[in-house]
Amino acid sequence: MSKKIAILTSGGDCAGLNAVMRAVVHRADHLGWEVLGIENGTAGLLDDPPRVRTLKSAEFNGTIMRQGGTILGTTNSKNPFKYPMEDGQIKDRSDDLIAAVKGLGIDALIGIGGDGSFGIMSRLAAQGGLNFVGIPKTIDNDLAMTDFSVGFDTAVAVATEALDRLQPTAASHDRVMILEVMGRDAGHIALTAGVAGGVDVILIPEIPYSVDNIAKKINGVKADGRNFALVIVSEAVKTPEGDKREVVYHGGETRYGGIGEHLGVQIAQATGSETRVTVLGHVQRGGSPSYNDRLLASGLGVKAVELVNEGRFGRMVAWQNNGVVDVPIEDAIKECRTVSPDSSLVHTARALGISFGD
Ligand code: F6P
Repeated sequence: MSKKIAILTSGGDCAGLNAVMRAVVHRADHLGWEVLGIENGTAGLLDDPPRVRTLKSAEFNGTIMRQGGTILGTTNSKNPFKYPMEDGQIKDRSDDLIAAVKGLGIDALIGIGGDGSFGIMSRLAAQGGLNFVGIPKTIDNDLAMTDFSVGFDTAVAVATEALDRLQPTAASHDRVMILEVMGRDAGHIALTAGVAGGVDVILIPEIPYSVDNIAKKINGVKADGRNFALVIVSEAVKTPEGDKREVVYHGGETRYGGIGEHLGVQIAQATGSETRVTVLGHVQRGGSPSYNDRLLASGLGVKAVELVNEGRFGRMVAWQNNGVVDVPIEDAIKECRTVSPDSSLVHTARALGISFGD
């Protein structure tokens, strides 16, 4: 009897998802498992018939590993417990979804997701008695129990390159350049890219700041004879008055956005410097994965199949102390892993003279 695993990508995409699938499909093939790919995340299971196809190792050559996005598609807005129906109603479709999974005749489900997706999938697994293993991905790097999630390294590389490109134009025009990056409630992208990209000011949600302190730093840079300054700000940083900056979309959906522009005006006023703002947005999620993300994706994908093969479920594969391990999935989603103000990277940044505006 053939043993079957189904795999899906869930939540926001990032670079490295196809590299994870390549590793899963190849390891599964070696161990005698068939792999079904579920399209469009958990939402694909609620279509009639469910959107599923067999993933063959011949399809998963090195070309796919290099591709950004997810060949299976994904969604971050169709929670099966609060499913948006076409008539505008919200319905709990978790039982339909569990029935669809059971109808596939699979032995295990592997989900590539972040904290939101794992919360949903663990709940479904408990409710339906499903054998579930999680693989962490998120550019925000905010899942607990893993040093890195797939996609973070590429997002940081993109943000660092953006700073490399902003620096010469800032210097040409005597400007303060502000780069707004993603990361939701965690400042990992801003902190890491800020140090790698040699900025003067890093603003993250975890460290309160004042515009006066930012201006002090920028004026000090100018007094030392440099004609430009670079600032990186994480999207969830609140205004100096303590308000969230959000964009409201059709239907009331909200996303972080606008703190860069808000601060641009205030920094220009406080320093008298010409200030410009760049919002990096989804550029951080697209494109080919970095070599670190390819390695991480490969190691985590292989380990996830080995867990399935050993019958060990309710686990998340993780990267700790330079190697692959596995942890209880509930430990990974208990809380959002934000930046510790005492972390060694914050210390390094301060030692380099970078200001956090505090
Ligand atoms: O969680 C990943 C992330 O890219 C966040 O950094 C960002 O706030 C959010 O998703 C954007 O979501 P969407 O793709 O729905 O615009």
